[in-house]
Amino acid sequence: MRFSHAIFEKNAVMLTAAVLLTVAVGGLVEIVPLFTIETTIERVSGVRPYSPLELMGRNIYVREGCYLCHSQQIRPMRDEVERYGPYSLAAESIYDHPFQWGSKRTGPDLARVGGRYSNEWHVLHMVDPRAVVPESIMPSYPFLADRKLETKAIEKHLKANRVVGVPYSDEMIAEARADLEAQANPQSDTEALMKRYPKAVVADFDGNPAKLTEMDALIAYLQVLGTMVDFTEVKPADVKQ
Ligand code: HEC
Repeated sequence: MRFSHAIFEKNAVMLTAAVLLTVAVGGLVEIVPLFTIETTIERVSGVRPYSPLELMGRNIYVREGCYLCHSQQIRPMRDEVERYGPYSLAAESIYDHPFQWGSKRTGPDLARVGGRYSNEWHVLHMVDPRAVVPESIMPSYPFLADRKLETKAIEKHLKANRVVGVPYSDEMIAEARADLEAQANPQSDTEALMKRYPKAVVADFDGNPAKLTEMDALIAYLQVLGTMVDFTEVKPADVKQ
């Protein structure tokens, strides 16, 4: 025993080789299970790819750095579940690239903010948070209501997401622009849109029918957060108690 130990301590090459071997084995043990991740994330019915308008809103959310103050991950602890609703399931973020779980909560968690407030509330809040929550320290984003939504590259956004595994079909990509416009216009025919993206909220989100703005897209995104899974059917064990 003593002898074999000395081989490693007195011989730099042996020591290096042994360290490499140990790290390699340790690395494999950590990495290999990840290759089977498809089978370790439980699929949940209801989760679908974002509609084109929601996806553009999500891009704005990332661009503006909302994740620096807001998490999107309700943890499985009682206080969180009572405040925000059923804790987040991994499968709910399966089409998020990159995911928006976040680790900083200057503001509340947004994982289930969809449907909690009206579109009008969101517009007021984004334009001037203090107008609806007097003690708020959230920055205001009034320019979102003025800026025209840039939709030129919408097909490319869907395609890029498809490359990383979001199952956008050829039809979804071909109809992306039509779907995007239909979702922001309550007068439009939304049958095809709803078939492709069940539960999509259709509205003139910013209250300005004359213009498709970044505000429209951002609110469409906020309104779908956490609403895809029907938790009257899906019951994670903890939530019941
Ligand atoms: C500097 C930190 C900060 C940033 C950046 C920020 N927020 Fe907030 N947010 C807050 C705080 C604090 C609150 C709680 C007070 C309030 O409702 O305004 C809040 C509240 C909210 C709420 C209401 C949540 C609820 O459940 O009541 C929404 C929705 C929201 N923010 C969206 C956004 C979006 C979208 C962005 C990016 C465009 C953003 N926030 C950027 C701090 C921030």
